[in-house]
Amino acid sequence: MSNDRGNFGSKIGVILASAGSAVGLGNIWRFPTETGNNGGAAFILIYFACVLLLGFPILIAEFSIGRHSRSNTAGAYRKLSPGTRWKWVGRLGVAAGTFILCYYAVVAGWTLEYICQAATNSFAGTSPQGFIAAFSEFTANPWRPLVWLFAFMLTTHLVVVKGVEKGIERSAKVMMPALFILLIILAVCSVLLPDAEKGLLFLLKPDFSKVTGNVILSAMGQAFFSLSLGMGCLCTYASYFRAETNLSRTAINVAIIDTMVAILAGFIIFPAAFSVGIQPDAGPSLIFITLPNVFQQAFGGMPFLSTVLSVMFYILLALAALTSAISLLEVTTAYLSEEFSMSRKTAARMATAFCTFFGIICSLSLGIGKDITLFGMTVFDVFDYVTGKIMLPLGGMLISIFAGWILDKQILWKEVSNNGTLKVHTYKLVLFLLRFVVPVSIGLVFINELGLFK
Ligand code: PHE
Repeated sequence: MSNDRGNFGSKIGVILASAGSAVGLGNIWRFPTETGNNGGAAFILIYFACVLLLGFPILIAEFSIGRHSRSNTAGAYRKLSPGTRWKWVGRLGVAAGTFILCYYAVVAGWTLEYICQAATNSFAGTSPQGFIAAFSEFTANPWRPLVWLFAFMLTTHLVVVKGVEKGIERSAKVMMPALFILLIILAVCSVLLPDAEKGLLFLLKPDFSKVTGNVILSAMGQAFFSLSLGMGCLCTYASYFRAETNLSRTAINVAIIDTMVAILAGFIIFPAAFSVGIQPDAGPSLIFITLPNVFQQAFGGMPFLSTVLSVMFYILLALAALTSAISLLEVTTAYLSEEFSMSRKTAARMATAFCTFFGIICSLSLGIGKDITLFGMTVFDVFDYVTGKIMLPLGGMLISIFAGWILDKQILWKEVSNNGTLKVHTYKLVLFLLRFVVPVSIGLVFINELGLFK
């Protein structure tokens, strides 16, 4: 079966496609939201620790499992540990990915609306309060967000149906560098706004007195979400890696690129938010309110430049969301098509239909359905909470136990060292992290959240 599966064509393609999966709304929309809700700098430091101590080893584990099995994520565990229940880790991942895409596509749709708003110059002359009102009015509208949701899901669907090399790799090669450059320009502009220092303090001066178990869980969940970990997404991508791909180096590159983009987003959002007096814990709307303000204030005197930069920014944000959404849809598509012997087209259609249906429900839950709540959260927030704070960390813990304790050590070593041809100094450390540090820390955070310590 492995011969007719696609493959990534080049080394840089591998890194860009994996980084394309990692870099997305998680960095530019969710990271600032979580940082704002969890008090700033201290959260960011814990986030760094999670990327390094949990994210990096799990990246290597997922890459090794995927490339060795050359299979979708549930099939991977079935092949590596036949006849056991480990395939449920893969299935949990497929479920997590499918649920994430349901609400991810809604936010991605918002970015499409903002491309149009930026292009038609609707930001001009609007006050910060005006941006807040415009955003709530838009998300509460029953139709407009849905049209964008359909458009986004359709595009994602078409790329996934086209297959691995043509669709996924090519789109990632162009947009990643462009996005990066634009983010740097915007961060500089934002830091130069009046009163930006307060935002910088918020980002740089940790206040550990505000750290609670929930802050740690949020940082952990954000690290998994942002690195696309804990659900077999990078495991599925690694099944298309070539035998020469250096897994540790790819993992380091992905972790660095992803973290840098998140930090840049922080430097764009918070100085701007404090500058115009918007609370840092404004929630999911934060970037859709502060960013138009940055464009308006920093380039207001040069309307043409302001329009060009803002349109470019939202286009790149939409593309970053697209490369991540593709990787989410790919997990479900590869699973359905390989495990149930369907054509890729049928599998992708089923997955797209499912995600669009629940996407509609998530979208409406912010407008006409906002009174329907579960544990005080809207349906949209429930999807985010359950996937980000329960399913991904749980998946990460199980993956680390599998790679550290169940998987034949020879397999892990062969994958990490490309059959002994590479010197990998971190191998022992990674194995130690996978065996002890990852499962124990995630376990402790969960136990703490369940209140069992009290
Ligand atoms: N990492 C992506 C982002 O930051 C989201 C994602 C999560 C993609 C899980 C795939 C798997 O936007």
